[in-house]
Amino acid sequence: MTSVSQRDSFTGKYGFIAAAAGSAIGLGNIWKFPYITGVYGGSAFIIVYLICILLIGLPVMLSEITVGRRAQKGGFGAYKNLAPGTPWFFSGYMGIAAAFLILSFYGVVAGWTMEYVVKALTGAFSGKTPDEIGAMFGGFIGQTAKPIFWQIGFMSLTCFIVIAGIKNGIERYSKILMPVLLVILFFLCARSVTLDGAAKGFEFLFKPDFSKLSSEAVLAALGHAFFSLSLGMGTLVTYGSYVKKNESLGPLAVHITTADTIIALLAGIAIFPAVFAFGIEPAAGPGLVFVTLPNVFQQMPFGSFFCVLFFFLLAIAALTSSISILEVVVTHLVEDFRVSRKTATIVTTLVITLFGIPCSLSFGVMSEFKFLGANFFDNVDHIASNFLLPLGGLCISLFVGWKMARKDVEDELSNGGTLGTGYLTIFLFLAKIVAPIAITAVFLHGLNII
Ligand code: TRP
Repeated sequence: MTSVSQRDSFTGKYGFIAAAAGSAIGLGNIWKFPYITGVYGGSAFIIVYLICILLIGLPVMLSEITVGRRAQKGGFGAYKNLAPGTPWFFSGYMGIAAAFLILSFYGVVAGWTMEYVVKALTGAFSGKTPDEIGAMFGGFIGQTAKPIFWQIGFMSLTCFIVIAGIKNGIERYSKILMPVLLVILFFLCARSVTLDGAAKGFEFLFKPDFSKLSSEAVLAALGHAFFSLSLGMGTLVTYGSYVKKNESLGPLAVHITTADTIIALLAGIAIFPAVFAFGIEPAAGPGLVFVTLPNVFQQMPFGSFFCVLFFFLLAIAALTSSISILEVVVTHLVEDFRVSRKTATIVTTLVITLFGIPCSLSFGVMSEFKFLGANFFDNVDHIASNFLLPLGGLCISLFVGWKMARKDVEDELSNGGTLGTGYLTIFLFLAKIVAPIAITAVFLHGLNII
């Protein structure tokens, strides 16, 4: 028996992939990726995003899983365990802050998807023009009580599942439903690309114009690589701590990254041809998916049925992500402060939900409340995604690249010499040199310093 027996562990490889992919695949892929791609001008942004995924996201992901499994702890405890008496664990505080901020607005958007399940069920979209569907969305998020009601509903569900614990909670929900979401996405793509006027959407997606790419866009692409892969917060450190020692981590990281990226690209292909076909503004912002897809469903056989199912599964995808965010904070409180799991989960959920309320109101009564040139919602997202997550990623890659001994990294990846690690040198090169330099450069560029 290894030390893993002291902790819950995922049952087999599929359990971990399902849970990690469940964390990674969420609103980030289907809501945020298309919307920021629209805001930052399309194809060139996507190319920068893909480069960030490959050169930064992938090595950071492998770093997180490796550190978690080595230490058998969550984000915080892992640093304390592997480098006792050093300040590395401070990076854990950034992870906690990021988890707070991200979950606060994530719960709001997840609440929107729940309202959309009900709207679709009651046939609210049928016979409506694209303009009417757009107005319906604006009318909904502009209200005070209704979006907050759904946000609280969603956060309560998240809380409930996290209390249930890792195996029963996380694994069971993510395994079955994600493949169904993938199938619907395929249908959506097929319908969207065959709409009249879809060609402009292709151009937007696949014909890069780098002259339109701002330094802010590059920073957003980097931030979104972290957001979408669930990196920089300690989520995958925690999940890594539950992976059995005889699993090979390199291929796991590649699988999760590939799945996440494919889903985001599919969402892009499902949305942009339709955006142009229906004359929707690509830079419409956070509502893009909600104003575009109901139109596509209207043009599909059994569209209302698929529309209900789609928003339902999107809410589930959001749930498997939100539990992984809440888990970061809960694991910290349970492991480092010896608070009971139930208390930790309930208190954290309450605080995050409260903080989410001004995020929700950013589209209504607080829409005039702006700082740093944006509303509350955008600022929370921006600070967490574009600063805290990449900083967390910088720390973990430096930690694996420079602080841990190469032989320890090798020992962990090869399970004491029993698994192949042909990728070790390139991984360490990326973690040690490429990722840290790239993250720093994008930061400085984003701040207009270089
Ligand atoms: N990756 C998720 C998404 O794309 C969101 C998420 C879950 C996340 N866990 C995270 C983002 C940890 C950053 C860090 O929707």
